[in-house]
Amino acid sequence: MNILVTGGAGFIGSHLARKLLKDYQLTIVDNLHAYYDPLQKQAHLNAIRKLGLPFQFIETDLINESSCQKIFEANSFDAVIHLAALPGVPYSIQQPHQYIDLDIKAVVNILKHAGEANVKHVLFASSSSVYGDQAGGALTEGMANGQVVSPYAAAKYGAESFCHAYQSLYGFQLTILRFFTVYGPWGRPDMAIPKFIKKLLYGEPIEIYGIQSARDYTYIDDIVNGIEKALLYSKGNETYNLGFGEPIYMETLLSHLKKRFPEMKTIQRQTRQGDVKMTWSNIEKAKNQLGYTPHVNIEEGLDRTISWAKQYFKN
Ligand SMILES: NC(=O)c1ccc[n+]([C@@H]2O[C@H](COP(=O)([O-])OP(=O)(O)OC[C@H]3O[C@@H](n4cnc5c(N)ncnc54)[C@H](O)[C@@H]3O)[C@@H](O)[C@H]2O)c1
Repeated sequence: MNILVTGGAGFIGSHLARKLLKDYQLTIVDNLHAYYDPLQKQAHLNAIRKLGLPFQFIETDLINESSCQKIFEANSFDAVIHLAALPGVPYSIQQPHQYIDLDIKAVVNILKHAGEANVKHVLFASSSSVYGDQAGGALTEGMANGQVVSPYAAAKYGAESFCHAYQSLYGFQLTILRFFTVYGPWGRPDMAIPKFIKKLLYGEPIEIYGIQSARDYTYIDDIVNGIEKALLYSKGNETYNLGFGEPIYMETLLSHLKKRFPEMKTIQRQTRQGDVKMTWSNIEKAKNQLGYTPHVNIEEGLDRTISWAKQYFKN
């Protein structure tokens, strides 16, 4: 199978690429966006290169339609896994127009040219944020109703709608995957767990926004397995939650961290605009239809991430 992974120099994309490269022909497209240090993205690419397996890397911005078209004309992909996006809720409040460009317009370019090129299967990386602020229970796929609370989430919800429109226009198989707070080695530096661990390693206090909040933290290897299962076993046009299936309250996360960093100091801040109180995935659909089973619980995931961070930051 010949696969295009967009955003393959990013956190999730580079882990996915390392997994897929062993079994499939792979092209990665990424513009090394400066949302966080492009040197980290180069390091992600180097980690893929270290496997010593051939792949094609194209550095380009998918907002540029003619570049996007050329990629599809020069290759014959069976599947496209579209991960490229500008992530992050707070930045989307500062720069909403960029999210319309990168998280909607670039998606339309991919959908149109994948359709024109007769790609069989398009997988789109969506987010738990499309559920808005519906605290109180596990979220099932039918519960997204457009009532989101950040420009990032609005862009993802809008992009999902474009996915459906282009699926109907071109007839490719569409799989929408909604990821829940992904963490692990090479984690995105704007996200809580990677940010906390780095600060704790250097003995710095960590800032807590929303002590009462909870997140369904999902370890990167589980997400990558879920994406591959969706690639192989998703039938028809479906949307799946990929999470661990358990909300972890901030206080619980902090107590796990305190065990590992007894000197930990925290600074309490107000809840940030655009943040939801809780995310909690119901993963029954992905379990039943894809055979997806997350294996790495929060304690194991933190241990693995800390041991990676000790090597990465302290060397
Ligand atoms: N990490 C999470 O917890 C999480 C949760 C829900 C959804 N997601 C989604 O999963 C996907 C991957 O997220 P991530 O955490 O790996 O983020 P990331 O920022 O590490 O990776 C995204 C990559 O896309 C690239 N990119 C952005 N715009 C581009 C463009 N126009 N053209 C080419 N490349 C472009 C960036 O340079 C980056 O390398 C995103 O769509 C994100 O919204 C992530």
